[in-house]
Amino acid sequence: MRKIDIFDTTLRDGEQSAGINLNTAEKIEIAKQLERLGVTIIEAGFPASSPGDFDAVNRIAGTVKNSIVTGLARCVQKDIDTTWEAIKVAEQPHIHVFLATSPIHMEYKLKKSPEQVVEQAVEAVKYAKKLFPLVQWSAEDGFRSDRDFLVKIIGEVIAAGATTINVPDTVGYASPQEYGELFKFLRENVRGADQVKFSAHCHDDLGMATANSIAAVENGADQVECTINGIGERAGNASLEEIGVALHIRKDIYPFETGLNLKEIKRTSQLVSRLTGVVIQPNKAIVGRNAFAHESGIHQDGVLKNPETYEIISPALIGEDDVPLVLGKHSGRAAFRDRAVKMGYDLSDDKLNKAFAEFKKLADRKKEITEEDLVTLLTEQQVLI
Ligand code: KIV
Ligand code: ZN
Repeated sequence: MRKIDIFDTTLRDGEQSAGINLNTAEKIEIAKQLERLGVTIIEAGFPASSPGDFDAVNRIAGTVKNSIVTGLARCVQKDIDTTWEAIKVAEQPHIHVFLATSPIHMEYKLKKSPEQVVEQAVEAVKYAKKLFPLVQWSAEDGFRSDRDFLVKIIGEVIAAGATTINVPDTVGYASPQEYGELFKFLRENVRGADQVKFSAHCHDDLGMATANSIAAVENGADQVECTINGIGERAGNASLEEIGVALHIRKDIYPFETGLNLKEIKRTSQLVSRLTGVVIQPNKAIVGRNAFAHESGIHQDGVLKNPETYEIISPALIGEDDVPLVLGKHSGRAAFRDRAVKMGYDLSDDKLNKAFAEFKKLADRKKEITEEDLVTLLTEQQVLI
């Protein structure tokens, strides 16, 4: 089975979310949890961006042993030197250098000609390669770049010593079909493509980051870049938990191995939410509070008879405790009885009917019925005695 490396960038692109600011101790705690989760690479920060980031990357590089630790750097010697100072303690020093390649970025942001961009990228990769055994080069805004230009610049950075080539959809503009085709095209046309890993890096501006990442994997990407809970610039990055679980659950169509320890997903998600202060939307796939919460009576009845009627993922897979059925106005008798039995009440049919009628009245007034509400209701109805 083909191995797909999971490159986690929660501590770099994720921390670039508006309003997030993690201190070094918090970053180390997250990095250790990412190591337990089994990610291949942890992008621990951007060492040249601030002394705090340098310190965090350096401490993580000295602490984490089972994941590769990397730091982001612009294609300039000063950044590469600073990143080396931060990362050199790591077992396998890795650097991630990037330079924009799209016409709009080259003209307006970099104010450089395509030839100058090629020269800068090649010089940076050659320089980085003297220090780091593992050099990833990213074509920022790669998806919106000219394809022939991508073929040229990627071929040259591979010749200069890059070991991984990342082609990001920096602004989340791609469709899955287009992004997949781009990887296929690059694999087939870039000189030296067979000597390197290709990486996908997707943003979620159109809600397609996970689908795009998986399309890239199906078309030759060996690595996906993602964040816990999908945090990141603007609408965020591709969610690690969505990619990891989708590749696992749909092995029938995705014959790939990530090496993730999926049982650590829930814990990692909650840790990142707590330390960043970013609340997870309730209906977020895999890790949202409602991801396993069945609400309607018909669904609840089905799940009680066989969970697989409405559950494609078992909560245990991601290390989540059993999620009790939601008791609300859509709940049916089956869910009501099930909860009463689990709470230790053995109701006759008569008592059940009486209590269930009262429960429905209460549920019309109150969104969710708690176990305390049930005890009060059953006591008032004298069904317990
Ligand atoms: O989205 C992006 O292009 C990035 C690069 C720095 C890889 O985050
Ligand atoms: Zn990004």
